[in-house]
Amino acid sequence: MLSAAFLDHLRSIVGPQGYLDRPDDVAPYVVDHRKLYHGATPMVLRPDSTAQVSAILRACHEARVGVVPVGGNTGYCGGATPSADGSQIVLSLARMRRVRAVDPHNYTMIAEAGCVLADVQAAAAAVDRLFPLSLGSEGSCQLGGNLSTNAGGTAVLRYGMMRDLVLGLEVVLPDGRVLDALKSLRKDNTGYDLRDLFIGAEGTLGVITAAAIKLFSRPVNIVTAFVAVPDPQAAVALLSRLRSSTGDLISTFELVPRIGIDLVTQHIPQTSDPFDERYDWYVLVEVGAGKHVTSLRDAMENELASAIEASEAINAVFAESEAQREALWRLRETIPEAQRLDGASIKHDISITTTKLPRFIVEGSAAILEIAPRGRIVAYGHLGDGNLHFNVNQSHDQPADEFLALAPRIHRAVHDLVARYSGSFSAEHGIGQLKRDELVRYKDPVAVELMRSIKRTLDPHGIMNPGKVL
Ligand code: MLT
Ligand code: ZN
Repeated sequence: MLSAAFLDHLRSIVGPQGYLDRPDDVAPYVVDHRKLYHGATPMVLRPDSTAQVSAILRACHEARVGVVPVGGNTGYCGGATPSADGSQIVLSLARMRRVRAVDPHNYTMIAEAGCVLADVQAAAAAVDRLFPLSLGSEGSCQLGGNLSTNAGGTAVLRYGMMRDLVLGLEVVLPDGRVLDALKSLRKDNTGYDLRDLFIGAEGTLGVITAAAIKLFSRPVNIVTAFVAVPDPQAAVALLSRLRSSTGDLISTFELVPRIGIDLVTQHIPQTSDPFDERYDWYVLVEVGAGKHVTSLRDAMENELASAIEASEAINAVFAESEAQREALWRLRETIPEAQRLDGASIKHDISITTTKLPRFIVEGSAAILEIAPRGRIVAYGHLGDGNLHFNVNQSHDQPADEFLALAPRIHRAVHDLVARYSGSFSAEHGIGQLKRDELVRYKDPVAVELMRSIKRTLDPHGIMNPGKVL
């Protein structure tokens, strides 16, 4: 479909190291992480400079060829998978992985889009700073993907989502022009903030090639606890208590249901229940401070004792070593993997105000069980952000196909309820191809119309990640 001459022109832009076109090499780029989408492409381009990205987009703009940017390909919504007709080029930023500058006194770093998140974290740690974005896929996801999907994760409560961690961007526009907004400034009131247009746009408005990001002080005094709580309502009260008593030093407050512990201890090696008794709900709490705040552990112990007296908690264990801390984190972080190993699941990524979340869990669970009486609800995640992965797993006595056939009705019931709570049907995983119809259904129509006109203005030929988001 794409002419040999055009493909040769793209090859000449990136040179021999800059493309993949053998079917085996291209294969990993045409299927998404969850294997929901299977596409095709004649070529994956791997430019190593902004100038090359610019030349690629200029050529594709002139030829009206679709471009699908990809980072670590760890997304959940098929946002980086090309269409099945083989008419689109995949653009991997993996070779653009330089840290261009680190400024510990300004608490900033400039890094390229292909940097793996864990490498960005390590580059910050090397100058005794913290880059706080933290998620399960941090060993393979890339900064460009984090920016383009506005990634969340497990430290949002204290540090915000990716959007909150960005000061400036370098973006190649669909026609090849380079927007240089790569300033490391915290104050710059000079008109419209264009930066925010590209964050969370999932590559539909241009290609982010580098970002100026915020760094923070590295907490060296870290207290991690796994706390059994009576129910999500109590967990919300506990969150409020700990936020105010620590002066907002809580970085992680993750809800874990009993079934989460059962799934993890059953399917993930070297995991065990931290308590002798079984409880219905838990939270993983982490709080961090600088080296002089030595009383943090005592303060947390006292606060949790008061919380137990107030029936906001039942029991707690503290990590006494880095190994124990990792073991507690594993109980939370491997829930998605354990869920997958256990069988078919139907997933949601919703947010509601934290205050209303407990009531939503009760109502949402009832709505799901009405449709799938044998389903097992696995509601876990970022309670501190009001963001739950409100999932449901098949029971072992029901065939997976029969269970998965209920997915459209379950999605509708859950997302309708979310809308009634003024929540979001996609809190941190984005839209991609998976939730495009939901966007039109649930987002304010004026907002959707504005999104469409921005898309038309910046990408008049519709070459950027066609078929995603809108
Ligand atoms: C998580 O918080 O674990 C992920 O965002 C959700 C998942 O992997 O299912
Ligand atoms: Zn999550």
